[in-house]
Amino acid sequence: MASIRFSNITKRWGSFVGVDNLSLDIADREFIVLLGPSGCGKTTSMRMVAGLDDPTLGDIFIGDRRVNDLEPKDRDIAMVFQSYGLYAHLSVYENIRFPLKVRGIPNAEHDAKVRAAAAMVELTEFLERKPKALSGGQRQRVALARAIVRQPNCFLMDEPLSNLDAKLRISMRAEIKHLHHRLNVTTIYVTHDQVEAMTLADRVAVMEKGRIRQLGTPTDIYNNPANLFVAGFIGSPPMNLIEGDIIDGQFRAEGVSVPLPFAGSRTDVVLGIRAEDLRLTDPMYGHFRQKVYSVELLGDATLVSQRIGARLITARADKGFRIEMGATSAFEAVPSAYYLFDRVSGDRIALPA
Ligand SMILES: Nc1ncnc2c1ncn2[C@@H]1O[C@H](COP(=O)(O)OP(=O)(O)O)[C@@H](O)[C@H]1O
Ligand SMILES: [Mg+2]
Repeated sequence: MASIRFSNITKRWGSFVGVDNLSLDIADREFIVLLGPSGCGKTTSMRMVAGLDDPTLGDIFIGDRRVNDLEPKDRDIAMVFQSYGLYAHLSVYENIRFPLKVRGIPNAEHDAKVRAAAAMVELTEFLERKPKALSGGQRQRVALARAIVRQPNCFLMDEPLSNLDAKLRISMRAEIKHLHHRLNVTTIYVTHDQVEAMTLADRVAVMEKGRIRQLGTPTDIYNNPANLFVAGFIGSPPMNLIEGDIIDGQFRAEGVSVPLPFAGSRTDVVLGIRAEDLRLTDPMYGHFRQKVYSVELLGDATLVSQRIGARLITARADKGFRIEMGATSAFEAVPSAYYLFDRVSGDRIALPA
């Protein structure tokens, strides 16, 4: 078991900065997710923990030990990739066994360990098959079993579910959550999928352009996004974000006037409201009054959108809610559901209590 620490880690190639002065303390047994769009530095960060890339600056610790100069094989970590990385010519059994051989674990111990790891991911019946005779989900289970088999100090998982279809991804997500609950091994999990991050993580590090923009529990980053980037990245549909100005306690934008629960003026703000916090209300009174631009039935909810300026504003209504496209509609939210951001810096503006 081990904690992991990034201490002022920078990774540069020439003048390009892939990871920019990243510091992060991951507790022993914690499940941390690095979340962010493609190219933000997630894989590079993980590869530096594995020893597959060297940091340009800074130190990486596993437990109390600085590992910068330690070979990958001496770091006692196991990785799982999107591409599975299985050996096509080896059976499931031999694939799972492989790390035990490489690490010189006595042969007499192999069979029990392989069978225990396979059982944990329900592969017992498939041990004699070759990877090509398995589904994508089963292949990813083999990769998981191979990571589990030698009981490493930590798991590094890089988009392990990205190659699976939507349904399988959801069940494998639950498997990974269950495995972590059972094994309690420190895990760094990389994904661009915010739902995976929300469902799996103890804490999420939301990354953009090589930096952590916010670190917090899933509830934290959902309910208290620190900036526009995080607010817009987390949530489906994403948070409604409307650019405007505050004039005498009223938020004003093209076609919108929303009274705020405080006095004062400020230019260049962004008002944020989550779709589930917007209610459809009487068109005489709502703060957002426009014709319905689109209606989307999700099954468990109905999304109703208005178009304000160049933006869509979306309200999440009950599953039984019906309204015609083009009909007059009005949305409103309680003031406690408002978020305000500085349009220029992107930082959250605290609302007076
Ligand atoms: N070996 C490399 N040489 C130059 N640039 C790289 C190299 N590896 C990654 N990058 C760049 O660093 C940035 C971060 O990459 P990566 O960590 O793979 O992002 P992510 O996993 O978040 O999608 C990207 O812009 C990528 O193109
Ligand atoms: Mg990546």
